[in-house]
Amino acid sequence: MDIARIRDMAQKMAEPATEMRRFLHTNPEPSWHEVETTRFIASELEETGFKGIKIGVEGKPVGLVADLKGKEDGPLVALRTDIDALSITEEGDLPYKSRRDGASHACGHDGHIAILLHTAKLLYSMKDEFSGGVRFIFQPAEEKGDHSGAPAMVKEGVLDGVDAVAGMHLWAHVPTGRVQWRAGPVMASVDGWEVKFFGQGGHGAMPQNAVDPTVTAANFILALQTVVSREVNPLETGVISVGKLVSGDVINIIPDRAEMIGNIRTFNPTVRDKMEAAFRRIAEGVAATYRCRAEIKYTTLYPPVINDSSLAELLRDTALQVVGENNVEESPMLMASEDFSFYQMKVPGVLFFLGSGDEAKGTTAPHHSPKFNVDDTVLPTGISLMTAFALNMLEKLREGRSS
Ligand code: NI
Repeated sequence: MDIARIRDMAQKMAEPATEMRRFLHTNPEPSWHEVETTRFIASELEETGFKGIKIGVEGKPVGLVADLKGKEDGPLVALRTDIDALSITEEGDLPYKSRRDGASHACGHDGHIAILLHTAKLLYSMKDEFSGGVRFIFQPAEEKGDHSGAPAMVKEGVLDGVDAVAGMHLWAHVPTGRVQWRAGPVMASVDGWEVKFFGQGGHGAMPQNAVDPTVTAANFILALQTVVSREVNPLETGVISVGKLVSGDVINIIPDRAEMIGNIRTFNPTVRDKMEAAFRRIAEGVAATYRCRAEIKYTTLYPPVINDSSLAELLRDTALQVVGENNVEESPMLMASEDFSFYQMKVPGVLFFLGSGDEAKGTTAPHHSPKFNVDDTVLPTGISLMTAFALNMLEKLREGRSS
């Protein structure tokens, strides 16, 4: 593979990719509302020459899948991007600021779309040079937690026939152009929980006539913190956080209920099951101890992102070719989550990070913050990486088949 040529072609796309990223930034659409975004992507692909684009998931006109066939039959690899914006009002005064109140591309998915669309264009121009196929997955609703796009697309067969899948996330915490890769677990699972303790309300002066759900809640919070410290193997990791606690509202009344919500994260599916069981047991147990009744709701959200080792190593080698050894490093494990994990439960996959943080350009605000922005100079690097990695995956899979 001629990396210099790919880099050169990607660099020529810097201007249109930047223009596209900024256009998308101005026109963000939150999860499951990416109708115009989807239409835009489809028309770009059609213009390029793509045929048979499959639009929509769950009967909604959001998200799409497009296939590119090489000169001969062979393995099929998938490149996936998310396309949704967040329900956050953008702050600041970028010339291409979001024109929609309550919506902004505060996670960089605008950059992901621009990168993958140009990767599709680049690979299309090279389609007589490789064997096998590349499937481009433009996925809606990555941010939607209890109803995200990945499991919906997987259910509708987006991975049928796919041998390997790759995803990339821009990363503001890392300098522009630096690639972070990791084999094995890289992002945590996330589950959401809700507990309501029902007691009996009463006068604050006469606790003997009431059953106090607030004291129950206080004990529950402390007991919950022993799950990670006392029940999870110290060599594993996990976190349980309380995100909200509501109980009563005046100084002299014991309320009749206390309500809490929070989340549980870990990297290991076995630890995940164990933490859920402990959480339920403690909620029930503490409630019983203090004469309350517990109502529990537990929602499994995303599994952990666990990268296939040989794909991760291939990604690292590709990154070394594209950005050089000074710009490639191992990623730390992150307690944040990504629904890319749903693809990995079906086929080997790798998710990696591409730095887009530049202090001088103001692109180091954390993801999901109202001032988040992408350093556009990273776009050609992303295009080169995705293109080269798709070709490297195809080559490796072909070798595996013939040996
Ligand atoms: Ni994101």
